[in-house]
Amino acid sequence: MAEKSFKYVIIGGGVSAGYAAREFSKQGVKPGELAIISKEAVAPYERPALSKAYLFPEGTARLPGFHVCVGSGGERLLPEWYKEKGIELILSTEIVKADLAAKTLVSAAGEIFKYHILIIATGSAVIRLTDFGVQGADAKNIFYLREIDDADKLVQVIKEKKNGKVVIVGGGYIGLELSAALRINNLDVTMVYPEPWCMPRLFTAGIAAFYEGYYANKGVKIIKGTVAVGFNADSNGEVKEVKLKDGRVLEADIVVVGVGGRPLVTLFKGQVEEEKGGIKTDAFFKTSVSDVYAVGDVATFPMKLYNDIRRVEHVDHARKSAEQAVKAIKSNEEGKTIDVYDYLPFFYSRSFDLSWQFYGDNVGDAVLFGDNDPASPNPKFGSYWIKDGKVVGAFLEGGSPDENKAIAKVARVQPPAMNLDLLTKEGLSFACKI
Ligand code: FDA
Ligand code: NAD
Repeated sequence: MAEKSFKYVIIGGGVSAGYAAREFSKQGVKPGELAIISKEAVAPYERPALSKAYLFPEGTARLPGFHVCVGSGGERLLPEWYKEKGIELILSTEIVKADLAAKTLVSAAGEIFKYHILIIATGSAVIRLTDFGVQGADAKNIFYLREIDDADKLVQVIKEKKNGKVVIVGGGYIGLELSAALRINNLDVTMVYPEPWCMPRLFTAGIAAFYEGYYANKGVKIIKGTVAVGFNADSNGEVKEVKLKDGRVLEADIVVVGVGGRPLVTLFKGQVEEEKGGIKTDAFFKTSVSDVYAVGDVATFPMKLYNDIRRVEHVDHARKSAEQAVKAIKSNEEGKTIDVYDYLPFFYSRSFDLSWQFYGDNVGDAVLFGDNDPASPNPKFGSYWIKDGKVVGAFLEGGSPDENKAIAKVARVQPPAMNLDLLTKEGLSFACKI
């Protein structure tokens, strides 16, 4: 079988891979030195588009429109760009075996790839209801969303099931973004999730109440505090009903499941140190194995700001960790050093006419400020999280670019705030004066 050898190999062709390629090119990479091996059939793209404009009936996003690095206002790297730079894009190629000691990767088709330096950028896979043996969960028209092929299947079923009934299982990022996108397509949408409010890993009850109210006003039905325990299908095997734990049965032509992701680290099990479900790295994304780096969703890295180690499943970190790893690799070759990764967590989401940003850490006491009436024509509200007398996290819905910059600064600077009532009263103006 064919054997190919590269100085640098990136395994995975998602967000991190694309931003790493751009950084390699900035730092100087010779033709033939770098290869990206991806299971997907397309060049790296901005994954967040898949749950947003990719599914919209108007203003629809399609490739090549959203290849990296347009999501952060950068140059769009088309497949030709890789060719011009002599970067080999090895697409539709799944690596099924990795031998880190022998510096060898093997694809499903049996091709062998050798490398000097490896960057692991395999991202996450969705958690499936079939993983927990939920009855009937393998019926047709039950969808998940991670890659562009999944999004294409959704686009197709939206066309086929016009005005049909959708049940969204899960109240996290996918749940909230997909229920909005499908509602915009005029489908009848019901969300189901086990927690008392949506997005509990970030939202407080106060923040969630706004989104739940807003979604209800848009016609999205919400069922909380229960889970899907089974599905009934028709004679074609297509899903027809969702059975809930509380005994209710919902009609459904389409089901979308978003019950979380799992970092794709299985290829490397037993070969590299792991922590918190990911591959443990230092502040340069170097793993416990020499010449092996891990970036994006799979990396568990030191979070200097909180003196902690964490894994982050968001696009801003995917981009920045990739750049940091490549800078570290190149400076190492030149005998130079670079600063440690000093990451400020940044998460965001958009749905309907809404757009929020969050910076920092959502720990300690939370205060809510501003106009959070879901019926308001221009809702703008936010939250601060306060720990040990300092503001450590900030959330803002409907902020302008300058206001979002202000809340980012608050989370970075961590100004003192002893009086929570005063902080609530001052609201956004507190951030704007920091
Ligand atoms: P990413 O998942 O981007 O790439 C991994 C790549 O590796 C894929 O191409 C995969 O096929 C490939 N791969 C895996 N195993 C392989 C193997 N064995 N062989 C070959 N290739 C392999 N974040 C955010 O901050 N804001 C947002 O709005 C969104 N929106 C959003 C929408 C949707 C639908 C998803 C699924 C995710 C988001 N995210 C997000 C999260 C964000 O997209 C995510 O954190 C980054 O894409 C992570 O980048 P990585 O490069 O680590 O993985
Ligand atoms: P998530 O962790 O955001 O949400 C999972 C949700 O699943 C939980 O909140 C819970 O409501 C629900 N849940 C768990 N078990 C359940 C069950 N048995 N039945 C019903 N509901 C159940 O995960 P996700 O929304 O699936 O997102 C997957 C990945 O994609 C994550 O890494 C996420 O960060 C990423 N993503 C991010 C964004 C963004 O940052 N804007 C957008 C889309 C996806």
